[in-house]
Amino acid sequence: MTAPTVIMGLEQAPTTHPKLLAWVREVAELTTPDSIVWCDGSEAEWTRLTSELVAGGSLVPLDAEKRPNSFWARTDPSDVARVEERTYICSVDEDDAGPTNNWMAPAEMKRLMTELYRGSMAGRTLYVVPFCMGPIEAENPMFGVEITDSAYVVISMRIMTRMGSHVLEAMGDDADFVPALHSVGAPLRAGEADVAWPCSPTKYISHFPEERLIWSFGSGYGGNSLLGKKCYSLRIGSVMGRDEGWLAEHMLILRLTSPQGRVYHVTGAFPSACGKTNLAMLEPTIPGWKVETLGDDIAWMRFGSDGRLYAVNPEFGLFGVAPGTDWRTNPNAMRTLAKGNSLFTNVARTDDGDVWWEGMGEPPAHLTDWKGNDWTPDSDELSSHANSRFCTPIKQCPILSDAYDDPRGVPIDAILFGGRRKTTIPLVTEARDWVHGVYMGATLSSETTAAAVGQVGVVRRDPMAMLPFIGYNAGDYFRHWIEMGKGAGDGAGQSALLPKIFYVNWFRRDADGGFLWPGYGENSRVLKWVIERLEGTAAAVDTPIGYVPTPESLDLDGLEITPEQVRAVLAVDNDEWRAEIPQVTEWFEKFGDKLPGVLWAELDALKARLGVE
Ligand code: GDP
Ligand code: PGA
Ligand code: MN
Ligand code: MN
Repeated sequence: MTAPTVIMGLEQAPTTHPKLLAWVREVAELTTPDSIVWCDGSEAEWTRLTSELVAGGSLVPLDAEKRPNSFWARTDPSDVARVEERTYICSVDEDDAGPTNNWMAPAEMKRLMTELYRGSMAGRTLYVVPFCMGPIEAENPMFGVEITDSAYVVISMRIMTRMGSHVLEAMGDDADFVPALHSVGAPLRAGEADVAWPCSPTKYISHFPEERLIWSFGSGYGGNSLLGKKCYSLRIGSVMGRDEGWLAEHMLILRLTSPQGRVYHVTGAFPSACGKTNLAMLEPTIPGWKVETLGDDIAWMRFGSDGRLYAVNPEFGLFGVAPGTDWRTNPNAMRTLAKGNSLFTNVARTDDGDVWWEGMGEPPAHLTDWKGNDWTPDSDELSSHANSRFCTPIKQCPILSDAYDDPRGVPIDAILFGGRRKTTIPLVTEARDWVHGVYMGATLSSETTAAAVGQVGVVRRDPMAMLPFIGYNAGDYFRHWIEMGKGAGDGAGQSALLPKIFYVNWFRRDADGGFLWPGYGENSRVLKWVIERLEGTAAAVDTPIGYVPTPESLDLDGLEITPEQVRAVLAVDNDEWRAEIPQVTEWFEKFGDKLPGVLWAELDALKARLGVE
């Protein structure tokens, strides 16, 4: 094992990048850590940090046979999810944050957070984590550097991003990078013992879009602390995309090969905990179809010189919802995790050193639950937090596409929007054209989940599944989507090269509350219909909301489902859709002049088709 690069002075830094050195010095002077460690991303560093976390009680090693090189972590019970109420877009102009974001003037936020950061790393180590979102070989590699006082964050960043010395080398002395500052906000007095999960009751997740700068304070939970993910790749990324003509989206990316050997690429935007990771790793139940994974959470998309829209996954790992993940539902996730090298946070631990969570078959007779308490099957509480997560290298996914590392990305044929709705929304609907598809995305609705702190199960509008992630005014974001539709091909309006847009809902329920559609691997039947629509071979009903499959056009071979269930899952009930109109109107009114007129026109056209005044 090589010795850690612990330095007290910046003279020993493994870089001469002036801006980076100046920033690290400035942060160190403000936060007063005991030492500075420049992370190299090596195996030795992983071993050293995980050992330290085990010794300090923050991690428990899992059984080396069952879960090699894998660890169990439990957060403070107050620090389990993204904190949308504490997330801010600090644009210079309040109007640029728009009606869907929290806003504070940048100078005011900096003043406030500077006082929070003052001395916040006392008694701790300041880690400098150089990372790159997307391939380092990209024409414009998207560098970032996270400063954090959490070793848990360092090891998680090593899984979730391309991280380490090779990034610092590639940055040279003058590469641009996104500075991302993170502190758990729990300074230690001299001699004071640390707790297993340090965090602060005061939390701020702040973004300064004009400066491409991120400041996060008080939380260790991944969505708040792994700053390459939501903060950089979505919130700052969406602003970069607006300014530079591309899209940063909350989307999975998959490759689909038909029995005839034709290859398609599909992206899908569903809100957090609404099925992206599962669809990205899907094992088709219909013969001859093949799915390969490219990404499960984030897609960066831009037009290629051939006029097609290309998508890249900027991430390097999977940060997936654990409950519900099982050999039956998501065998490829189970295979990925079986290879080890993973972190499990807020799941339950078995007595023989494995992990367990709800949905993983029969529960063992005894577990240690996510709060560290004894748990038995007749316990009243869940063994695992509903937002418990696995963090695992994407390279371990057995169906990872060979295009994963291609900096050009893959050409997208279809975009799915989707959400979690018990009623109203059919299994799949095809948009009439790009603008109608943007309308579908802009009005996307979903029941809230445990992925964010707050009430669960409340229907809210979640445009393009990006409500918590749009780094600017959502009205401008809709306009950007409309404009992107003009960018394909020769730029002359709608183009055959544009992906087709669909809206899916795996979560419609019957009168007894059961799911009408079996979901998971069976969603391959919906993907098949989507591809057959692209190829022009599947039938559809022209309904007021778009094209919906005829029952016969869905391949239901070998599926146990009654004709009534099929009818119910595909049903378009005009009364239910009429009831949505006032909500959509109210939603659009929020954006005032910023809402593109073509979206009002789409709503008017829908009203006319539904016979609403
Ligand atoms: P993500 O957060 O969008 O990536 O969503 P996940 O794929 O992690 O799924 C979130 C939760 O929804 C998990 O508990 C899954 O088991 C569950 N889920 C995913 N796909 C389906 C589906 O097709 N049908 C049903 N009923 N549940 C699903
Ligand atoms: P998810 O990712 O979309 O897989 O839930 C985390 C999140 O969005 O908070
Ligand atoms: Mn997500
Ligand atoms: Mn996911």
